[in-house]
Order: sequence, then C-alpha cells, then structure tokens
Amino acid sequence: MSARSGTDHGPRTIEAGAPPTRYARGWHCLGLAADFKDGRPHEIEAFGTKLVVFQAEGTGRLHVLDAYCPHMGGNLADGTIKGDALACPFHDWRWGGDGRCAGIPYAHRVPRRARTRAWRTLEENKQLFVWHDPQGASPPEGVTIPRIEGAFSGEWSDWTWHTLRIDGANCREIVDNVVDMAHFFYVHHSFPTYFKNVFEGHVATQYMTSDPREDMTAADTLSAQGRLRSEASYHGPSYMIDHLWTEVGDATVETVLINCHYPVAPDAFVLQYGALVKKLPGMSDEEAAQAAAQASEGLAAGFEEDVAIWRNKTRIDNPLLCDQDGPVYQLRRWYEQFYVDAEEVGAEMTDRFEFEIDTERAVTVWRAEVEANLASRRDAATAGEG
Ligand code: FES
Ligand SMILES: [Fe+2]
Repeated sequence: MSARSGTDHGPRTIEAGAPPTRYARGWHCLGLAADFKDGRPHEIEAFGTKLVVFQAEGTGRLHVLDAYCPHMGGNLADGTIKGDALACPFHDWRWGGDGRCAGIPYAHRVPRRARTRAWRTLEENKQLFVWHDPQGASPPEGVTIPRIEGAFSGEWSDWTWHTLRIDGANCREIVDNVVDMAHFFYVHHSFPTYFKNVFEGHVATQYMTSDPREDMTAADTLSAQGRLRSEASYHGPSYMIDHLWTEVGDATVETVLINCHYPVAPDAFVLQYGALVKKLPGMSDEEAAQAAAQASEGLAAGFEEDVAIWRNKTRIDNPLLCDQDGPVYQLRRWYEQFYVDAEEVGAEMTDRFEFEIDTERAVTVWRAEVEANLASRRDAATAGEG
C-alpha cells in the first residue's frame, strides 16, 4: 500500500471541540406551572447560574429572579414569599417580580439602584417558560410557544411530568435525535418506515412512521402496540411538541408528548417530559390518566436508552455519515441560530430545508434482522421443549 493511499483513506479523526460556554437564546420550559404554585420559592439551576421561581400572593403570577440577592449574596430560594415580593432569608430585603427592591424593613429608604435581574416569563400549556438571551433582548415577533388545545380540554388527560438531570453531556446530544432515524431501531427498538425532516425559521420537525418490532416484547420497546405516526417539532432550541397517533386495535389513540430541556452547565442539562392523551369515546378520566402514564413510561424508558448512550459517548463535531442517516449537519446549522448573536443569524440557518430518507434499504435489512431474531427464538423454544 502506498503512503498516498494511506493519507487518502486514513482513519477518520474525531473532532470534538469544547461545548459552547454560551447558552441558547430562546424560551425554556422550567416545568408544570402548578408545581411552582405551592407558596414556596423554588431554586432552578440553569444557564450556569441559579434562578428562583416564586408566585406573587396577590396577583398569583409566577416570577423568575436571579437566586442570589444583590445585597450580600443570600439565596432567595431559601427566602419567604411576603405579599407580591420575595423576602431574602439573610436581611429580609423584599424583591418584586419586576426585579425592583420593594422594601427593606430596617432601612429609612431603598437605594435607588436596588434592582436584581428579573427574567421574562410565559405561562402556556400549563407550563412555565423563561426567556434566555445572552444579548438581553426581548423575544422577536412570532417567537413563542404554540398553544396545545388538549392541555385545556376536558377531552384530554392532565399532564404527566418527569424530570431527569443529565451530567456529562451537552444538550446538543438530544437535539441530534431529530434527524437520527437509525438509532430508533437500534437504541429504542422501534421500526421506522418513514422519516422526514423539515427545518424552517426557529422550528425543526421530524415526521416519522414506525411499526412495533415483533422480535421485542412490550417491555423492550417504547413504540406501543401498533403502528405509530409522529410529528415532532422543536419550537426554538429546547421545547419539542410531539403529536402521536397510535393504532390500537381499531382505534387510534392521540397523544401529545413534550420533550424539553434547559441547560445547567456546558456539560449538563435537565431533561423534562410529559404526556397528554385524548380520551377515546367511553374512556373515563382514570383510564385516560392511565394511558398518559403509560405513554410517559414509554418515554421514560426511551430517554433512559438515550442516556445510556450519552453517558459513554464522546462529543463529535464531524460525524461520519452514510446515505441512510438524516441531515445532521443541516440540523446543527439550524441549531446554531440560537447560539450566535441575533445579527449573525444567517439564511443558511433559517431557510426552509427538507430531507426525506429513502428508507428502502434500511427497512429491508431491519426486516431480515427481525425475522432472524424471531427464527432463533423459535429454535430456542423448540430446543427447550425437546
Ligand atoms: S443578602 Fe439578601 S437581604 Fe442581605
Ligand atoms: Fe433517542
């Protein structure tokens, strides 16, 4: 072999720069709004700092402030809600939801410049969102969280909700899933048959149809009993709404899943997910709640499978792709819009981009693999009998 061919076909070197120290611009879901409405302040570790969420007693509104008090650094999450303000546990300075100091009981007057950082909030879909922008600007026109009608309808279950902190990985890992068809087969034990992505503006969508894998028991697979159609969109960098239609016997079960996260540090994030299920005719509230819990359990199992991969994988900036992989580079270009200054957002990040994987080859090979697994299981069963 010549030295030249060695250079042309040498092993690929993984490039893995440090994860960005900056956090994405956008709305980030902190959890179900009701969970913050218990009369206590709540600490949230996010964006490389600590925040505090509290509900004003009078207005009932949820507010988010920097957790550390600008007086002498007390942690407001250990404080007490007094009226519409949050009182610091250290010297009882009162902080309003707008970030202004609303009173210092032991002082003649409040210093004119006594202000802390108040984060812009939004309550939608019975969830609480906070706006993060390193440049300090307000959300641009049209950049908001779409309303999910099912969250406000008696025809649907209530939200299930789960929180999982992931250390040792940057949140780009979860966003990469949007284009990663093959991992659904290998990691999540479902069987994708149709897979398409569309990116446009601040929205990135994955359209997928998948079948259950006959070689897997229900416990092995997150895709339910029947064929599953899924339309999942990230609205901004971190909040995905996934509409799912599952065939169960003659019925189609409609589910909405939320998959969202917020960064804690460059190598840690908090993943949150929940489900709503539309009641089938004749379904009671309890049955709907049970169906939602089941959908949620499937999701939980799925995320655990992802986490097992993330825990031991490396960051990779130059993935080596094949023809049945989705558009990882284009997705990352889309994702980049949330990490650069607003003036730097280019058309290549936001222009409409569509890509459908021709799944023919993958489906053929996967079918054969499923058949082979079933055959060897049958053989093992026969041998057991004999
Ligand atoms: S540190 Fe908060 S009141 Fe003094
Ligand atoms: Fe995954």
